[in-house]
Amino acid sequence: MKRREFLSWVGLGTLATSIPVAIAACSSPIEPEAEAPTTPPEAEEVEIDTTPRADGFAAIGTVAALDADGYVGDKNFNGEQVAVIRDPGNAENLIAVNAFCPHQGCTVKWDGASKFACPCHGSSFNTDGSVATGPATKELGTFTAMIEGDLVYVKLS
Ligand code: FES
Repeated sequence: MKRREFLSWVGLGTLATSIPVAIAACSSPIEPEAEAPTTPPEAEEVEIDTTPRADGFAAIGTVAALDADGYVGDKNFNGEQVAVIRDPGNAENLIAVNAFCPHQGCTVKWDGASKFACPCHGSSFNTDGSVATGPATKELGTFTAMIEGDLVYVKLS
């Protein structure tokens, strides 16, 4: 075998043995099947009958939603704007207010800590509905609320 012929065979052999290695190096490793992304459990949307019962209480939301969101509310709950929270001083008790701001009618929102705040002109209200800061001068109305089973109930009258 001549030198040139020999080198040609060595070159082909080197090329032939390195192709599988190069292919393996370029392909991505087989990854385990990715798990579906998990989202934090959220309160499920549940259809609730808000018709007042004979005792005057009507369901406004689920306990799961109350605990997940910090409040349950409805801008038209049997004709009223209602927001319900757990009493920050005693989580066993509920507080329900008329969320219609007495200043000019915006909807107050629970701040998650201690006050109902109006986004329109800055009024805020204590958990008993009394005015904490103006310009509102009238307090929020309040309602009786309770938990029964998995639902939060409010008595409007
Ligand atoms: S409407 Fe609430 S502060 Fe003005």
